[in-house]
Amino acid sequence: MWNKIDLENFEIKPFDLIANDWYLIGVKSRGRSNMMTASWGQIGHLWKKHVFTLYVRPQRFTRPLLDESDYFTVSVLPKQKEALNFLGRESGRDYSDKIKSSGLSETTIDGHVTVEEAELVLICKKLYRQQLEEDLFEDSELAEERYPNKDYSIQYIGEVVAAYHK
Ligand SMILES: Cc1cc2nc3c(=O)[nH]c(=O)nc-3n(C[C@H](O)[C@H](O)[C@H](O)COP(=O)(O)O)c2cc1C
Repeated sequence: MWNKIDLENFEIKPFDLIANDWYLIGVKSRGRSNMMTASWGQIGHLWKKHVFTLYVRPQRFTRPLLDESDYFTVSVLPKQKEALNFLGRESGRDYSDKIKSSGLSETTIDGHVTVEEAELVLICKKLYRQQLEEDLFEDSELAEERYPNKDYSIQYIGEVVAAYHK
């Protein structure tokens, strides 16, 4: 069963969670839900709000769904590395139901897409998006290293409106 988390007393190890556990970006638009694995991101405080920021490359199937949707979810399920690898390798473009094909069980919390296997879920309301630009990198070597194909990520900042754990 999901228990709502009091965000003021929310304890995580942000670097370990994002870099090592990874997470799933969940989104639903026009009746189509999709999830992709991510290991870049930020959790923090901005504009007097608790926020989570995603970095999604333009070629992801998730990208137009994110553009069209008012919300996204961040789902953490470190014990499911096989499914996370699948969702981070395969594209929703090639599956009628990518989530089901990963072996995970799609469900919703407050109407937002996640999976039964998640241990922690953040519900985020989109506040802002912007495309990273080559000219704005202060470190051009970093830009070349991370984006050799110049497919600069789109940054999506979402307000964490609720969080749940099992
Ligand atoms: C561990 C891991 C972390 C990833 N992190 C990101 C990320 O932060 N941003 C991104 O755009 N792609 C990331 N990817 C790649 C996407 O998950 C992958 O391209 C996926 O197939 C996209 O799915 P989609 O086309 O259904 O959106 C990551 C993949 C893995 C395995």
